[in-house]
Amino acid sequence: QSIDTLIKAKGKLYYGACTDQGRLTSGKNAAILQQNFGQVTPENSMKWDSLQNQRGKFNWGQADYLVNWATTNNKTIRGHTFLWHSQLAGWVNNIRDKNQLTQVLQEHITTVMTRYKGKIYGYDVANEIFNEDGSLRSSVFYNVLGEDMVSIAFKAARAADPDAKLYINDYNLDSPNAAKLTRGMVQHVNKWVAAGVPIDGIGTQGHISSGGGNNLAAAIKALAAANVKEVAVTELDIQGNNANDYATITKGCLNEPKCVGITVWGVRDPVSFACPLVVRCEGGSDADREKQDSWRPNGNPLLFDSSYNPKQAYNSIVQAL
Ligand code: XIL
Repeated sequence: QSIDTLIKAKGKLYYGACTDQGRLTSGKNAAILQQNFGQVTPENSMKWDSLQNQRGKFNWGQADYLVNWATTNNKTIRGHTFLWHSQLAGWVNNIRDKNQLTQVLQEHITTVMTRYKGKIYGYDVANEIFNEDGSLRSSVFYNVLGEDMVSIAFKAARAADPDAKLYINDYNLDSPNAAKLTRGMVQHVNKWVAAGVPIDGIGTQGHISSGGGNNLAAAIKALAAANVKEVAVTELDIQGNNANDYATITKGCLNEPKCVGITVWGVRDPVSFACPLVVRCEGGSDADREKQDSWRPNGNPLLFDSSYNPKQAYNSIVQAL
């Protein structure tokens, strides 16, 4: 049974996954996405360094592929992402003039959103702009534009495609008591919305470990208490023995009227962002295991195994729905 069909029957918009051209043209990824998911996020192809690595020279190939595939297959698309310190083009990182950076940010957002106007459900306009303590994080955008970076980006996005939902997205919002969530995200978003910044939704990425499901479900509620129309889980992967957590988070979204859907960050364990080397999730030698990042201790993050079979986690979501 498709978790997307089931979640739609409960009034939500989608169960989705990230992907891109390389995955869609290899293995059974496209078939899995067609059958089980209703939404896709480009894993990398809409990031700044992919789209505009040199000023004014846009590379549309991979992003176009994703958008065309999704449109043909009737899948909702979440665009990802504009105002982000990472996977940013070097030439943007070197700008020190406020007017110039404002113009560059506006042009980038306007160009991308105009190209895909009417085809994208929503965008992560801003990504990872907070520090752990809830203050705004250092980046070329913050250092040159200050807090205005947020209104500049969201206003350009609203003007370019008025029907697209505009999101602010971050990680480590996974607990209702996370400083980043309570002091950073909710307070800043309420202040910006009151000041007329067009923010429609908050995304919590959800790169977590087993046992974190209840906290993430509580975080969904805490984010929904902000003055926004919707919230979403945008990049879910769960390290370790995670079937219960997937069920808990799914129920957490069902129980929060503002939660529109859940996106998992990939299809298959061995090529997940949370398992960058095949060996990390498929066994491997002790030496290989020692290379694991501390936050990626256990592997097993996603819903399908290396042979594209649905895992216990997938079935636990079916049951939760
Ligand atoms: C990751 C991709 O999954 C990787 O393929 C890439 O090498 C690095 O970026 N937060 C985000 C995502 O917002 O864009 C990141 O995606 C994972 C963390």
